[in-house]
Amino acid sequence: MLPNLKATDIIEKYINEFSEEFKSKKMTKIDSVEFLKLSKNLIAELTSKEIDMLVKTDDGTYTLKSEDTDELMHSRVGALTEGIEKFAIPSKVEIREDCDCNILDLCSGMGYNAMACLSKNKNCKIDMVEISKETLFLSLCLDIPLKEHEIIKKAYFEFFKNNIFENTDNKDNEDNENNKYINNIRVFNEDARIILQKMPDNYYNIVCHDAFSPARDPVLYTVEFLELLYKKLKDGGMIISYSSSIPFRSALFEIGYNVYEGVSIGRKRGITIAFKGKPIYHHISIQETCGNENTCNNNENNENNKKNTDNYENDNYELQRISDVDERLIALSSIGIPYYDETLSKNSEEIINKREIMREKFKDKLMVNKDDEYNYLYSTKRIKSGKIDEKLLNIQKNSKNSVECINLLKKELTNL
Ligand SMILES: C[S@@+](CC[C@H](N)C(=O)[O-])C[C@H]1O[C@@H](n2cnc3c(N)ncnc32)[C@H](O)[C@@H]1O
Repeated sequence: MLPNLKATDIIEKYINEFSEEFKSKKMTKIDSVEFLKLSKNLIAELTSKEIDMLVKTDDGTYTLKSEDTDELMHSRVGALTEGIEKFAIPSKVEIREDCDCNILDLCSGMGYNAMACLSKNKNCKIDMVEISKETLFLSLCLDIPLKEHEIIKKAYFEFFKNNIFENTDNKDNEDNENNKYINNIRVFNEDARIILQKMPDNYYNIVCHDAFSPARDPVLYTVEFLELLYKKLKDGGMIISYSSSIPFRSALFEIGYNVYEGVSIGRKRGITIAFKGKPIYHHISIQETCGNENTCNNNENNENNKKNTDNYENDNYELQRISDVDERLIALSSIGIPYYDETLSKNSEEIINKREIMREKFKDKLMVNKDDEYNYLYSTKRIKSGKIDEKLLNIQKNSKNSVECINLLKKELTNL
């Protein structure tokens, strides 16, 4: 999914205007009076009543509407606030050694997440990957109250100079070895599924995964794409996503990530934090074992249990085991079927349709075992409330962590 076409068409018009002025050397800098005037006009047009495409969030920073006008690029809590609270703080970028600060800002858009990370650690090296050049240009025209926005603007402006205004047709993207760092930042204006294949393996420490929601646009939430990211992460590297979607978490488990839940910001459910191997800078604040029978049977008790766990309230950014309900949904329900894109080229509709077919097959398979004792085709409601076979509950109760629990529950199903 992309930012709204109406908005990108308008931005495109301003890019062309700037490009012409740049070529004729009438406007060559983004701090010139002429560029400030152009920026003001763009923002005024996008925020006008008739267009209404650029929306002010609660912290005063702007976000764009997406193709589906119900979904904004950021939550109303604040575009910059999200960058800080959902990505920079949970990544622990602030306390990282310089050699552990290689960041992939996936779906970088206006660059809020990258600037938030830079504000916590000026030595991060960031690759920014964004398919829409219009959102990059919009960032040049916004007034974002963080001094690190200037660093992002510089990198974005260099990108436009080299790739758009000088008509060199993305030559830097063709060979990313040649794509130069501007103040430790590289900008890639391409589909993440393509450009990531060209990046070195074992390279990133942190992936800020900020795609649109998987239910609407699953292309960057598929098993194959997340597998590609796994290859690109160093050992101990992490993916952070605001999404707590079940098929997304399920794909992460399937690949072999260690998946945890972080705090929730502006939503009921916590963010997703997944590691390749063991976390280096984080410790896990909830006991890994699901030791209390009530906890396993009842999500409300589970929530209480989490709140009472050592450290969690003192340090909001530690990790916790994903909830009992999520573990059961991933392992026992068709909701846990992930998205697949074997060729890394399918569109959202194809990916969603394929998953629907797989969900039906999964249900059919469990329906075959009609014998009461082994009827594991539970309704979502029963799975959520824990009103399921004692044997399955015991597996969950006795397993050390989510990985073990989900594997054992799935095995139990395949033994049917
Ligand atoms: C939720 S917004 C991200 C907001 C952004 N992090 C920011 O700070 O402004 C999702 C972004 O993903 C981009 N996008 C969608 N599909 C993509 C793809 N396949 N590869 C790269 N970027 C993509 C969209 O253009 C959009 O800007």
